[in-house]
Amino acid sequence: MTELMKLREEIDRIHADLERQCAGLTDRAALEAFRVEFLGRKGQIGELFRVMGRLAPDERAEAGKLLNGLKTVATAAFEDRRNDLEGTTLRARLAAEKVDLTLPGVYHSLGHRHLLTQVQNEIESIFLRMGFDVTTGPEIESEYYNFEALNIPADHPARDEWDTFYIDDTTLLRPQTSPVQIRVMEQTDPPVRIICPGRCYRRDTQDATHSPVFHQVELLWVEEGLSLANLKYIIELFVHEFFGKGYQMRLSGDFFPFTEPSVQMHMRADRASDWLELGGAGMVHPVVLANVGYDPKKVTGFAFGMGIERMAMLRYGIADIRTFFTNDLRFITQF
Ligand code: DAH
Repeated sequence: MTELMKLREEIDRIHADLERQCAGLTDRAALEAFRVEFLGRKGQIGELFRVMGRLAPDERAEAGKLLNGLKTVATAAFEDRRNDLEGTTLRARLAAEKVDLTLPGVYHSLGHRHLLTQVQNEIESIFLRMGFDVTTGPEIESEYYNFEALNIPADHPARDEWDTFYIDDTTLLRPQTSPVQIRVMEQTDPPVRIICPGRCYRRDTQDATHSPVFHQVELLWVEEGLSLANLKYIIELFVHEFFGKGYQMRLSGDFFPFTEPSVQMHMRADRASDWLELGGAGMVHPVVLANVGYDPKKVTGFAFGMGIERMAMLRYGIADIRTFFTNDLRFITQF
């Protein structure tokens, strides 16, 4: 048998072998082993190329053709199989990672504003529409702004009305938002038309309507020619906007050192029997106007201070003020 005939037999054998093996390749490792065995530098086909040197020169051309043909067949078989396998892998991945659009999604609950913040924002927007500015003042306040400038001198018995937390002899946690009136008037010439919402502190004993921390909204309007009738009108307008129908409002005489005359505001729902005190109001006392350098003979003004929790309690039927501050989600998420 000539070398060429042997070579032909070898080529046929390898051809049959690689076709048989190729059909059984089911994963990448086996595919790689196949590539090394047949197409690698030391693989079966590579080894055959070495035989070329032993052939007679006139046989080499044919041998070369045959070997190249075998190499092409092996390469094609390898690539076909590889494409097949990658397709299978891809299909398997697609099947495994398939998204079931009918499953319920993952629910991320969003937070929302606390009821008190909602109510405060609403109060602000009502007064902004009426032409008031919204201002703020410090919660740590001096005795001067909280008492003296508001016509409550040291040792005046009215100071007992505000059970105040003192930080030192002259510094306190404000028990009311009224000191902001002074701060605003000191900085501005009349006319002044502001509201000031904010946190207040009192050494009250906690109960259903008292909390050591609570919120007030203060209002102040100073201009020429204002009277108690204007005050009543503004309060009624606000009450109408905030509460709508189904509520009654009552003003009655009261005393505050910084207003003269002074009134207190009560409200109740139509069917309720008890009145809830919302706050105080009155015409700004001439002494207070003079304290900030205004001329009480030229300008007059009125003011009020209302409890924001009380307003929310009345509107939403909340029985206990403490529920605003205990952070119970069962309460918070209702609003
Ligand atoms: N600051 C008073 C309080 O906390 C409420 C108040 C009364 C405010 C009369 C006012 C006012 O502006 O004019 O008890």
